Amino acid sequence: MTFLITAGPTREPIDPVRYISNRSSGKMGYAIAEAALDAGYDVILISGPVNLAPPRDAKFISVSTSDEMFEAVHRHAGASDVCVLCAAVADYKPAQVSPVKIKKNADGISIELVPTRDILQSLGRQRAREFLLVGFAAETDHLEANAAKKLREKNCDIIVANDARIAMETDENELLILFRDGERKKISRAPKTFLARELVKIFANSQQKRLTKKEKSSKEKNSEEKEALSPTLY
Ligand code: CTP
Repeated sequence: MTFLITAGPTREPIDPVRYISNRSSGKMGYAIAEAALDAGYDVILISGPVNLAPPRDAKFISVSTSDEMFEAVHRHAGASDVCVLCAAVADYKPAQVSPVKIKKNADGISIELVPTRDILQSLGRQRAREFLLVGFAAETDHLEANAAKKLREKNCDIIVANDARIAMETDENELLILFRDGERKKISRAPKTFLARELVKIFANSQQKRLTKKEKSSKEKNSEEKEALSPTLY
């Protein structure tokens, strides 16, 4: 089984020396990558800029902007069985990137921001996808309601919700996991390395279940088609 995992923040350039980013450390995504490797799976880790060493046995793809992450994810998702989009992708980027350093201005400046492409949603829109699609939801309020909305709108199989104030830049987290069929699971506060091992088990099981269900329904469809084609003998 191959896990594709995105991790860390993205950087959206303003000019050659400045960018917009966020406080994501990448620790949760890297822990999931390590846990998946330990469980014997192949891992493609697509990471924004972080201060962590890439896991030795992963295929490691380093990106900076949301556009680079979008391209890398789409290049590799088709060959993956589980896509875990853990990265804190910037929601906006400057409409224009200045090719030269913007000079200080006594009047202040405004920067026009435009939305970035939503990578998770773009994968959720692939109708015939074979992979399990897992998103993360970083919230500061109405955790469950906001996470359930993301699960629906981005058409994921699983959303892992966490409180951004607990999760950002720390070694611990607590999780609420929402499944497409309405099931929910809570994991109380624990080191990210422990949570990662639990998540990898949950993701692998869910993908296995999906495949079994798909196989069963395609077998049923085949036998219905055969029945419809074969002449009735009396
Ligand atoms: N995500 C993504 N591409 C984006 C923005 C988010 O793939 N351009 C993914 C994240 O990797 C995560 C999920 O979408 O798996 C939810 O990210 P989050 O920041 O919690 O939510 P947003 O959709 O950005 O919404 P909001 O910031 O309004 O909560």
